[in-house]
Amino acid sequence: MSQSHAHTAVEPMHDFSRSSWEERYQSRPAVWSGQPNQPLVDEIEHLAEPGTALEVGCGEGADAVWLAGQGWLVTAVDLSATALERAAVLAADAGVAQHITFTDAPVEDVIEGAGGFNLVTSLYTHPEQGSRWLVETLAPAVAPGGMLLVIGHHPTDPHAADHPDLRDAAFDAATVADALDRDAWEVSATIRERTTRAADGHERLWRDSVLAARRHG
Ligand SMILES: C[S@@+](CC[C@H](N)C(=O)[O-])C[C@H]1O[C@@H](n2cnc3c(N)ncnc32)[C@H](O)[C@@H]1O
Repeated sequence: MSQSHAHTAVEPMHDFSRSSWEERYQSRPAVWSGQPNQPLVDEIEHLAEPGTALEVGCGEGADAVWLAGQGWLVTAVDLSATALERAAVLAADAGVAQHITFTDAPVEDVIEGAGGFNLVTSLYTHPEQGSRWLVETLAPAVAPGGMLLVIGHHPTDPHAADHPDLRDAAFDAATVADALDRDAWEVSATIRERTTRAADGHERLWRDSVLAARRHG
């Protein structure tokens, strides 16, 4: 895992629509670092048995490729065709292309057409509809005994707090966890801090909201 986080080099966006994401990806050869998000690795690597995984907002595919490398059979969704093309190249280069299906179909359609997934993840997706919508939409996609993992910037993350659009996209995991029925889910909602050091030596503090929920079997 690289010490440089996937989000260090990117300026904030003015909106989170499909066309805005596509424009951003087209504006440069690579937007993200190509390394998996450390919070994903921290949450998932200790899980005993890989199975089927749905990743929503996969971007250029680093997390999907990492999951596939761990033995997961991944369906990876994103709004941007350009990001998905890069993700497919990354997967082929890593030798895991046959373990990942990339799609730009609406996530609701992907979920409707699939059985339950053992793992459903979404990291820093910033959906236009908001984080609560994301949790409500993804929860039905989790198979009994499976896990839902939604991670994003906490409202007090220093970087998010400085940028109005990231501030709007930030969420508190405990608040969005209200969307889950506690009789059906074992819920962990936490704030995690970590620091990264960029190539120029600049150290950065990250404060993430981590919602990790296990659906009762
Ligand atoms: C900040 S990037 C994060 C990418 C990747 N998860 C990472 O952490 O590097 C957010 C990604 O989510 C995608 N996205 C936003 N809303 C989405 C939605 N409703 N369905 C699928 N993808 C979405 C965007 O196209 C973009 O690639």
